Amino acid sequence: MQEVYGLITGGAGYIGSHVVKLLGESGYKTVTYDNLSTGNKDSVLYGEFVEGDLADLETLDGVFKKYKIGYVIHFAASIIVPESVEDPMKYYQNNTQNSANLINMCIKHNVNNFIFSSTAATYGLGDGNPDGVDEKCLPLPINPYGRSKLMTEWMLEDVANITPDFNYIALRYFNVSGADLDGKIGQMSEKSTLLINVALQTALGNREQLEIFGTDYDTPDGTCIRDYIHVVDLAQAHLDALKYLEKNPQSHILNCGYGRGASVKEVVKAVKELLKIDFKAVESPRRAGDPPVLISKAEKIGEVIGWKPKHDNLTKIIESAYNWQKAKN
Ligand code: UFG
Repeated sequence: MQEVYGLITGGAGYIGSHVVKLLGESGYKTVTYDNLSTGNKDSVLYGEFVEGDLADLETLDGVFKKYKIGYVIHFAASIIVPESVEDPMKYYQNNTQNSANLINMCIKHNVNNFIFSSTAATYGLGDGNPDGVDEKCLPLPINPYGRSKLMTEWMLEDVANITPDFNYIALRYFNVSGADLDGKIGQMSEKSTLLINVALQTALGNREQLEIFGTDYDTPDGTCIRDYIHVVDLAQAHLDALKYLEKNPQSHILNCGYGRGASVKEVVKAVKELLKIDFKAVESPRRAGDPPVLISKAEKIGEVIGWKPKHDNLTKIIESAYNWQKAKN
C-alpha cells in the first residue's frame, strides 16, 4: 500500500516547522511545500521538502501526483498586520488566491482533511467581552490580513457544504510566541515585527529601542492587550486537530489561545524582569490596524478536539524565545 503523507504548506516557517517537528516525532510522514520567501529549509527537521509556490500550479499538482496526500495543513501565508495595510493585494494574492489554488488541488485529488492556519485577526474588534471573544462572534476584520484569512475560511466552509467527505478545522491563532523547547527551531527573522521578538532583540542590543505603539487605548494601562500562546502548545493543537479529523467527519472553527491577556507594557516589563536587562522602550503613536484587545475564549477547542495546553505562562514563553534568540546571536 502507498504510504500516506501530510502536505504541510509553509512548513519551513516559524509555526509550520514546529508542527512538522511534532508530526515527525509522532511518526507522521510529511511533505513540506514552501517557497522559502520567509521560511528556512534548515528548520524542516522531518519529512520531505519541495521548494514551491502555491501560485505555481504545475509544481503543486506534481506534489499531489507524486505523493499520496492524506491531509493538508496550510500555513503558507503573509502574516504581518501593518504590511497588509500598506500592501493589501499582496495579502489577497498570497493568502486568499493561493489558498483557493490549494483547495482546488485538494478537490481535484480527492484530499478531504484540511487544517487551516487562521487568525484572531478575523474577529477585528471582537465583541468587547472582557472574558474574550468566542467563535460565535461575527467576524469583522479591521485589516486586509484578517480579511484575506477570513475569505479562506469562507471558501473552506462553502466547499465543505457541497463536498460530503471534505472536512476542515480552521484554527484561529491568537499571538503565537516562544520557541521549541529543545532549542532546535524558533522564529528566524531579524526583521520580525512581533512584540516579544522586538523586545528580546532590543534587550540583546540588536535594536536601539522598542517603540510602544499607542498608549491611549481604552485599556487599564493604555496599551494593547493580546493573548500570547506558546508555539509548542499551538503545534500540539494541530496534531490534536489531525487526530480528530481522522476519526470525525466534521468541520470546526476553533480559537487557539489561553483565555487571558497581557498588555504591551506588561510584556516589556516581563522581558526586562526575566533578562534583568533594562532597555529603551519609547511611547509612540498607534500602529495602523491594531485592535485594542484580543483575548481568546478558550473552551471550545478543549471540548471538541481535547487540546490541553501545557505552557500557559508568559515568562516561560519569553524564556524559550530568548534561549533561541540568544543562541542565534
Ligand atoms: N507592538 C509594539 N511595539 C512593537 C511591536 C508590537 O508596541 O515593536 C504592539 C502592537 O502594536 C500590538 C502588540 O504589540 O499592540 C502585539 O503586536 P504583534 O505585532 O506582536 O502582534 P499582532 O497582534 O499585530 O499580530 C499577531 C500576529 C497576527 C495575528 C494576531 C492575532 O502577527 O498574525 O497576532 O492576535 F493575527
